[in-house]
This record gives sequence, C-alpha cells and structure tokens, in this order.
Amino acid sequence: MDLSVIGSGPRREPLWPAGVVGSITHSDAYVAAAVAGGRAYAGLGIDVECRRPPLESMLETVCVPSEQAWCLAGDSPSQRLRLVFSAKESVFKAVYPATGDWLGFHDLELIFAGHTFTVHSGRWSGVTGAHQAVDDLQATAAWLPALCR
Ligand SMILES: CC(C)(COP(=O)(O)OP(=O)(O)OC[C@H]1O[C@@H](n2cnc3c(N)ncnc32)[C@H](O)[C@@H]1OP(=O)(O)O)[C@@H](O)C(=O)NCCC(=O)NCCS
Repeated sequence: MDLSVIGSGPRREPLWPAGVVGSITHSDAYVAAAVAGGRAYAGLGIDVECRRPPLESMLETVCVPSEQAWCLAGDSPSQRLRLVFSAKESVFKAVYPATGDWLGFHDLELIFAGHTFTVHSGRWSGVTGAHQAVDDLQATAAWLPALCR
C-alpha cells in the first residue's frame, strides 16, 4: 500500500481506504504501519516508544491507582510506566477513528498478563492488546473487534 495516499482527518487520524482499518507510529528512527480488514476489525492501534516518561511527573498523569501500584511493584517502574503509556496510546488510536471517543489516560484501566493487556474497566473494557520490548523500544498494539462498531 502506498502510504503517501493515506490522508489525515480533522484530529490527525489516518484516513484508510474503505474496508481497511489501520494505524501508524513513527519517530526519527523508524516508522511502522499496520492494517487489517474492516470486516473483522472496527479499529487497530499501534505505538512504539523509545523514551521512558519521567516516573515522578508522569506516573499519576498516565496511570490509574491500580496501574501506579503495578508500575511501582516492578523491577523497573519507568519501563512499566512506558508500557502503560504506549498501550493507552494504542487503545486510543484503535478507538478514536472508529468512534470519535477522545480518550484520556484515566478513561482506561489496563491489566497486563504476559505479553498481552486488557482494558479492565470503563466503556472500552474487554478491548485487548499485545506488547513487546525490543532492544530499548517498547511496541504495543490494540484492536477493536468489528462487533464494537
Ligand atoms: C495521536 C497520538 C496518540 C499519537 O501519539 P504520538 O506518540 O505523538 O505519535 P506516534 O508516532 O505514535 O503516532 C503518530 C501517528 O498517530 C496517528 N494519529 C494521530 N492522531 C490520531 C487520532 N486522533 N486517532 C488515531 N490515530 C491518530 C497518525 O497516523 C500519526 O501519524 P502522522 O503524525 O504522520 O499523522 C497523540 O498525539 C494524541 O493525540 N494523543 C491524545 C489522546 C491521548 O493520548 N489520550 C491518552 C491515551 S488514552
């Protein structure tokens, strides 16, 4: 697919051809895009983060209390904070284009298990995703099944 034809909507959401859902993430070192059939999925979100958000200033901004406790219980709280941040960006990118729901960080409570995560509460509970850290990059993806339309 020639990405140069993927336009941007009024709130920067990528405009995929009819019947396709997808997501884009980029930084100065990389760019990634993912697409899926619109019959199976209502939305798809991907995000890759290289920098770790500063724990002190971002923990409460990004995390609800259960996530804050989970971050602080880990060997590397800033690594877990980056994971929560990235996972929420992926959920946002999957949900917004399909629904217009401009989610804030505290609209989502995530639970992590292995390389997966699930939205635990709120209007998008049940939405799932996956995550993988590669070298010093944190990659996440989230998807909205078609029935969520
Ligand atoms: C959209 C957003 C999530 C992107 O995050 P980012 O870390 O700046 O940038 P990334 O490289 O990961 O992603 C950029 C791509 O996201 C996509 N994107 C931008 N706005 C989007 C939206 N409203 N919906 C879906 N995708 C969007 C675009 O494809 C963009 O690429 P472009 O800059 O070439 O147009 C962020 O900028 C934003 O608007 N956040 C507000 C909402 C939010 O974060 N809520 C808290 C989480 S629930």
